[in-house]
Amino acid sequence: MTQASESAALNPSSLDHDKRNWIVATAVVGGAGGLAVIVPFVSTFQPSERAKAAGASVEVDISAMKPGEKLTVEWRGKPVWIVRRTPEQLAGLAKLDAQLADPRSERKPGELTPEYARNENRSIKPEYFVAVGICTHLGCSPSDKFATGAQPSLPDDWAGGFLCACHGSTFDIAGRVYKNKPAPDNLEVPPHMYLSDARLLIGDDKKA
Ligand code: FES
Repeated sequence: MTQASESAALNPSSLDHDKRNWIVATAVVGGAGGLAVIVPFVSTFQPSERAKAAGASVEVDISAMKPGEKLTVEWRGKPVWIVRRTPEQLAGLAKLDAQLADPRSERKPGELTPEYARNENRSIKPEYFVAVGICTHLGCSPSDKFATGAQPSLPDDWAGGFLCACHGSTFDIAGRVYKNKPAPDNLEVPPHMYLSDARLLIGDDKKA
């Protein structure tokens, strides 16, 4: 894949329906409507194709992200989402626990939620949510449903999050799966760490 194609704009509708169609290094505005493209990589920070295939960590520039925006980058052949959550989205998380299957991320903690993300926000910094964008049911890629309230396929009191259209699993804005859905678990939080306020490293949380 060329660098140009990696930074191509994403058509969100293709992401909804076919996990193989997701395109890396794109940005989708979530809450406020409209689309924006952010190029999160510069060439000097980008691992080679061979290194990426082998699972090299990926460094992402998040400095241009605004509240409500989401980036998708590729790590180990999988889409990894970075969502900059709004204060309103964060404030809503605590109210959802009773509706969630695993609100405290206690299931498969070693696989799904690193210790530093085992909290209400499932994140290191409350504002930024980092997750593998693959449904824990059968592997479709859920779509963004950041707008709150009634809408097709979602409850009238929808608080914003993600919908896996394949079989109807829903996740909150921290990737926590709702009760009684086909997906058994929360979305995976990959190893990650902040190199600075502007640089996020996906795939490594122990860099010296
Ligand atoms: S693959 Fe997501 S609900 Fe089945």
